[in-house]
Amino acid sequence: MKDLNRLKALTPGVVYLAQKTFLFFLTAIGVRVVQQLVLCRFLAVGSFSLAQTLYWTIISRVFYVILQVKIRELWNKWDAASKGARILPVVKGRRIGNLDIMKKVGDMLEKGYPGDFLDEIEADLGRIFNTRGLWEDLIFTSSPDYIKRILATEFDNFVKGELFQETMYSVLGVGVFNADGEMWKFHRRLTRPFFTREKITHFDLFDRHAELAIQKLKNRLLAGHSVDFQDLMGRFTLDASTDFLFGTCTDTLQDDLPYAYSHLGNQSTTTQTRSSRFLEAFVDAQFLVANRGNLSSYWPLLEIFKDKTAQPMQVVRDFLDPIVVKALDRNKKQSLNDPRNSKEGQDIGDNDTLLDYLVKVTNGAILFVEVARYPIVIRDEILNMMIAGRDTTAGTLTFIMHFLCLYPDVWSRLREEVLHKVGMSRKPTVEDVREMRYLRAVINETLRLYPVVPYDVRASIKATVWPSDDPTQPPVYIPSKAPIIYSVFMMHRRKDLWGPDAEEFDPERWLDERVRKYLTESVHIFAVQCWSENLLGSTGA
Ligand SMILES: *[C@@H]1O[C@H](CO)[C@@H](O)[C@H](O)[C@H]1NC(C)=O
Ligand SMILES: *[C@@H]1O[C@H](CO)[C@@H](O)[C@H](O)[C@H]1NC(C)=O
Ligand SMILES: *[C@@H]1O[C@H](CO)[C@@H](O)[C@H](O)[C@H]1NC(C)=O
Ligand SMILES: *[C@@H]1O[C@H](CO)[C@@H](O)[C@H](O)[C@H]1NC(C)=O
Repeated sequence: MKDLNRLKALTPGVVYLAQKTFLFFLTAIGVRVVQQLVLCRFLAVGSFSLAQTLYWTIISRVFYVILQVKIRELWNKWDAASKGARILPVVKGRRIGNLDIMKKVGDMLEKGYPGDFLDEIEADLGRIFNTRGLWEDLIFTSSPDYIKRILATEFDNFVKGELFQETMYSVLGVGVFNADGEMWKFHRRLTRPFFTREKITHFDLFDRHAELAIQKLKNRLLAGHSVDFQDLMGRFTLDASTDFLFGTCTDTLQDDLPYAYSHLGNQSTTTQTRSSRFLEAFVDAQFLVANRGNLSSYWPLLEIFKDKTAQPMQVVRDFLDPIVVKALDRNKKQSLNDPRNSKEGQDIGDNDTLLDYLVKVTNGAILFVEVARYPIVIRDEILNMMIAGRDTTAGTLTFIMHFLCLYPDVWSRLREEVLHKVGMSRKPTVEDVREMRYLRAVINETLRLYPVVPYDVRASIKATVWPSDDPTQPPVYIPSKAPIIYSVFMMHRRKDLWGPDAEEFDPERWLDERVRKYLTESVHIFAVQCWSENLLGSTGA
């Protein structure tokens, strides 16, 4: 499959069409054989023209698809009944194949507010349902119990799946976020030792970049301009994460910050530096690959002649490849100077970056991948870490600022706590952060209303049966190979789980009696999925 994926990366559409054409051709041969040999020879029904063959080929393809859908439906019904479970409620759309429902979900994702339209369906059908667009299963849920099953207790039965991997391949490559099963475990074993506490709390490094970001912000504000805070956080997190992960900083904060679109001096003053080109390409590629998602398995049809992500990914890889090569060289020199290194190279040095570490552990003995490809494995791995670590942090920091601007009381209380605990000039320590309860309440409350992964999808491998959310109902049947979209975003805003004020921003809820009332009983109503957790926790988290 990997090789097919590499081919697809060149021209996804042609490969897709070739596969379909091949199937069609096979069917045509079958039809022809039946027509010429069986009907014509043995039954002497007369001969058939090619047009007739074509006609019957189309009919058989359509019939085959319908038959497949029907057989699967019947099988699921039977299997569910034999397990004492019920089939999931299916959304009833007005159009054939629930096309109107698919369009509504697409519109919601594009123009609406997350969950807008799904709320209505939930009110009608309950916290788990099947949209069955184009007769394919697509299950939605916002139930903490089911989310816990997908991410923890039944982790091995829920994978990203082939469709996901195929869609993401041109950007995520062979990195951890595009891996399932054994491969995922391999990645986890590979990177896990690096993310020890000390590494994650390398405050000095983050502080350096934060200082610069604040400086830039101040200068611009003092000059009387507004600042795009999201852009600023995007730069800060990119610089910090590249510095942290591979010891080479992208320096996007060194560039001029963009001006507001209405600002007079905005015309073409900013020259594109290498780092801002990288930033742009990096964001573009992620956006393009996200867009593929709403076309499901048909996405290659929009990329017939070229892989749309190829160009931005080239920029990204041109940036990363030399960094990886340099790290490999450095390591080679080191082990030449000190032969002990190559044997005991598995130790993590105090100042080692993830890149250094990966180079060390993969030095010589590489599992699973051929030696020639291991620079690619390393590059994809650090790229995956970057995508995951950066976006989530930049998003959360931006949302926190958004809330602090909307709620001046929260702002002043938070400021008081920080000044009281850390003061004006000192750097915070791990202990400080642990003791700043209000700060952590503000962060939790922000992550509740804007979780870093609002929606995500997994696909079941085997069919399974889950207890019903509604205790008066029989358990629900989850078919095999069915994609399930689970929404932490919607779960975090449920009034039945969080109380009547669930949609309000109120950090107090993490400190007052509401903790006991709602959270202590059922900790799974709050799902923090951070990148390190995807790596470290997941099973049993
Ligand atoms: C600022 O830039 C935007 C696009 O980048 C442009 O549409 C707008 O007209 C510019 N404003 C001025 C005042 O030049
Ligand atoms: C897919 O979704 C994106 C938003 O993520 C939207 O911009 C795009 O138009 C959608 N494409 C199709 C074909 O619906
Ligand atoms: C790590 O870096 C710090 C500060 O840059 C330095 O003082 C220390 O000696 C370095 N440690 C090692 C093992 O190189
Ligand atoms: C924030 O949420 C975590 C659970 O992820 C919890 O352990 C922690 O106590 C919460 N912090 C506060 C201040 O409530």
